[in-house]
Amino acid sequence: MRVAAARLVCLVALLGSAACASDAPREVAPSVAAYCGEDAEAVEARIDALLGEMTLDTKLRMMAGSRPGVVGGVWEVPGAPEHGVPGLHMLDGPRGLSAFTDLEGTAFPVGSARGATWDPELERRVGAAMARELRAAGADVLLAPTINILRHPRWGRTQETYGEDVHHLGEMGVAFIEGAQSERVIASAKHYAANSIDDTRFDVNVVVDERALREIYLPHFRRAVTEAQVGSIMSAYNFVNGDHCSESTHLLRDILKGEWGFAGFVESDWLLGTRRTAPAVNAGLDIEMPAGNHFARGRLLAAIDEGAIELETIDEAARRILRAQLCFDLDTDPALRDPARLPMEAHHGLAREVAERAMTLLRNEGGLPLERAGTLAVVGELAARENIGDLGSSNVRAPYVVTALEGIEAAAGGATVVHLSEPLDAEDEAALEAADAVVVVAGLTEDDEGEGGIASGDRESLALPRGQDALIEAVAARSERVVVVLEGSGPMLAPWLEEVEAVLMAWYPGMEGGHAIAAALFGDVNPSGRLPMSWPVAEADLPPFDNESLEVVYDYWHGYRHLERSGVAPAFPFGHGLSYTRFELGAPRLEREVLSGMDDALVVEVEVTNGGEREGVETVQLYVSVPESAVERAPRDLRAFGQVRLEPGASGTVRLEVPARSLAYWGEAGWTLERTGYVAHVGTSALDLPHAAPFRVE
Ligand code: BGC
Repeated sequence: MRVAAARLVCLVALLGSAACASDAPREVAPSVAAYCGEDAEAVEARIDALLGEMTLDTKLRMMAGSRPGVVGGVWEVPGAPEHGVPGLHMLDGPRGLSAFTDLEGTAFPVGSARGATWDPELERRVGAAMARELRAAGADVLLAPTINILRHPRWGRTQETYGEDVHHLGEMGVAFIEGAQSERVIASAKHYAANSIDDTRFDVNVVVDERALREIYLPHFRRAVTEAQVGSIMSAYNFVNGDHCSESTHLLRDILKGEWGFAGFVESDWLLGTRRTAPAVNAGLDIEMPAGNHFARGRLLAAIDEGAIELETIDEAARRILRAQLCFDLDTDPALRDPARLPMEAHHGLAREVAERAMTLLRNEGGLPLERAGTLAVVGELAARENIGDLGSSNVRAPYVVTALEGIEAAAGGATVVHLSEPLDAEDEAALEAADAVVVVAGLTEDDEGEGGIASGDRESLALPRGQDALIEAVAARSERVVVVLEGSGPMLAPWLEEVEAVLMAWYPGMEGGHAIAAALFGDVNPSGRLPMSWPVAEADLPPFDNESLEVVYDYWHGYRHLERSGVAPAFPFGHGLSYTRFELGAPRLEREVLSGMDDALVVEVEVTNGGEREGVETVQLYVSVPESAVERAPRDLRAFGQVRLEPGASGTVRLEVPARSLAYWGEAGWTLERTGYVAHVGTSALDLPHAAPFRVE
């Protein structure tokens, strides 16, 4: 169909461009073919024709959003209806249909919660579900996923990203993008690049050496492009090594579009995301959002007149913008606004499933699961609060939110639930003493963390705010059986840890979160979440977080790699999470112990046995060390993970695959795969790695 359409356009246009005149098969770069699929040739031919027909004005108009605010519930980039080009219609975002539209959407658990599922297949379904809601809101570009490295958990947007590890972030991001794009929605991986501080996000210059950039800050973006064929990339607000991200030739033209062969378009981030005209266009920024300021027609024309921008550069941007629209069939199958379909009820069950899978049991000295008998006291300011995350661009208008208290009350069965509000008086204290168990719901809210500039920004510290430590300690002094449920984006210091029986990390669990919390507490669901970031004892254990200076250095070290290198134990390691059952891991079996080069892969099988009395999910993690590397490597790097769900007494096999290229380091000569010995460490967290298996690259 596409081929026929392209020929028709050529005939009608009578342009005589090479592709039309000869009708010869068009040479399409492999990366364009991968981006566009079987339509690639026809689409490129049609774009050739369109570029010949369109006036310069029409092309320039496509290079900027139409207005600073949403139009009809979406941010719009004009198309060219006279040429059958529909334009783009953008909306956030990372946890569901953006509240910037006027419609209600399903509020999923935030990115860090979904990171804790370590389940890319589930994340693929989340991406697809968000995309379906976006289309029903009339949008065709989903401003997600956020795949910035969590360098430090004080970052205000910790909740939007999946975690601290390069490999884990890549797996989850690729799955989300593939899910979203399977619904003919263009995903937009953001924010490219090194965007991990919010308070200074508009001005900060991140100084990062090429090795840290290539190995830590970019690999998951590369995978978004080369594996998931992400439709678009959003440039970041910050500067990298002195260049604004919208003007970084190195990031945009050389690496993204050059080395990785990215075939889609780059749009700027919103408020101050574009700073100048010619430097941005020439570096490879294709669209200024949300409206044309530096990319306003007059400014672009002036730059062209002065010779600062070549017409071919405009054509290249226009080609990318057209390609995305045509490859995603936006011309023939547009997203049609249909508020009656929103929010999609079928997705509420998915929001609950994800929340249940995200529940991360950090500590359990026997406090959990709770019995459905006796008296259960529920305390803490967050127990009855709707707490689903940031009020910035990731905010969603949920049709309802189940609080922890509501969830517990609904699930309590034979237990009597008493809710004690603060400040606790003598009567409340007596009730605590009389209760069979106490659940304290504590943590962070949208007042403590969020997007900079438009919401709360970075966290002030890793401590629990508003006197919650004192509350937990006061409760622990009156009850032997205290369970702390924590809500928030990530790690919080827990000076009271040894005084409580159990700690359940619930994240910002989305609109169904209260039910998921209760299911984990009462044991209806066996917790299977695993930390996607390290949980430090003290903030000083992490690299510094500087959200005041206008220049920061991002070196090679953060997260578990930093902690292990400096010999500091975390409160809970990366990858950690307990279960109500017990799993045993067999010794890893390597398919081959010698790999032959970049395109080879290590294949490992691990047998897992559920030795307990409950069905459960185990996440097997494989970390690699390079004992005799020529350069300093991390003590261990996560390179693969996989999951298995097992009935009590059952065994199953997890198959793990480590592409040899992921073992390469970035050196003087580019990617270097050392011919040396490696060790695969297999276990269930960065610090619980009972099995080691050597292998070699020859
Ligand atoms: C945020 C982006 C978001 C955009 C549109 C910006 O301020 O940084 O993540 O997609 O606004 O809402």
